Amino acid sequence: MRVVSGIQPTGNLHLGNYLGAIVNWVKMQDQGECLFFLADLHAISMPHDPAALGAGTREMAAALIASGVDPNKATLFNQARVPAHAELQWLLNGTARMGWLNRMTQFKDKSGKNREGASIALFAYPVLQAADVLLYNATHVPVGDDQKQHLELARDIAEKFNHDTGTDTFVLPEPFIGAHAARIMSLRDGTMKMSKSDASDMSRINLSDDADTIAKKIKKAKTDPEPLPETMDELEGRPEARNLVAIYAALEDRAPADVLSEHAGKGFGQFKPALADLTVAKLAPISERFNALKDDANAIDAILDRGAGKAAATGSPILASAYQALGLLR
Ligand code: TYM
Repeated sequence: MRVVSGIQPTGNLHLGNYLGAIVNWVKMQDQGECLFFLADLHAISMPHDPAALGAGTREMAAALIASGVDPNKATLFNQARVPAHAELQWLLNGTARMGWLNRMTQFKDKSGKNREGASIALFAYPVLQAADVLLYNATHVPVGDDQKQHLELARDIAEKFNHDTGTDTFVLPEPFIGAHAARIMSLRDGTMKMSKSDASDMSRINLSDDADTIAKKIKKAKTDPEPLPETMDELEGRPEARNLVAIYAALEDRAPADVLSEHAGKGFGQFKPALADLTVAKLAPISERFNALKDDANAIDAILDRGAGKAAATGSPILASAYQALGLLR
């Protein structure tokens, strides 16, 4: 089992990232060889501030370590330090089809009405993401539900590359998507995912938020006047209520149905304070570790430096076999 996954280093690490992906990264560290990276090359697909990217990359590294990613167990690095990601993307650009990329919903969402003005990087983004995992022969890729389509594309690219070159250069990666927290929704609108690009900070809980901010955000979260029902089926048509139950369950690592059987009959006046207490209790140690580490640029750089060296060594033979499969002389 070789586990590979990444996160964009723009904005804050929020509860959706944490419960949807990072919790699984931390669990998988003890089950197989893991490589986790800051997807800084992906971050330049949208307009960005160069002065903020480096600081954001270090800060996200600190947030991951604070969340439990252990650089002594997993290889932690930033993508820009391992040029093989960008190199392999170019090789895979020969395999990926325009039609496949045209179907990517994230490109449609992010480019919006301004398709003609979107960067080539935004369009080709999923090919870089395929390179990220194929470079290491990843078997498992722990992600939230929103990345599933990109992972399916990575499998299609791997399969076509192997077929067209008559080789078995790449391993087909499996997305690993948790059962209950795969899609944490916005606190302001239960039909939109919690996202760092949402204009309202009230829509998400950041792992760096203090206890008062967390309590305030949960108190103001959109809900409905009904009490909590006994079963998940009865939450149909109540996306905000379902989301808060899902968050509660994920924080305690149990099934949402279980949480309902404990809290059925309570209104949100009672459930929200319980959720706020639980969230604060779970996030306090993370934000404490984050605050202790985030300004220690030397320590973070040393970790990323070591990680980049290990990642480059792991990916090098696989990159070489991709060049060879394509008949490129090097
Ligand atoms: P990113 O940076 O948007 O998110 C990082 C991880 O968090 C998950 N996630 C969520 N899970 C549940 N509920 C949510 N509301 C939520 N929001 C985000 C994402 O699914 C992801 O697992 N393209 C990727 C980064 C990437 C990558 C890769 C991932 C680049 N290369 C290779 C895996 C493998 C992204 O933008 O994730």
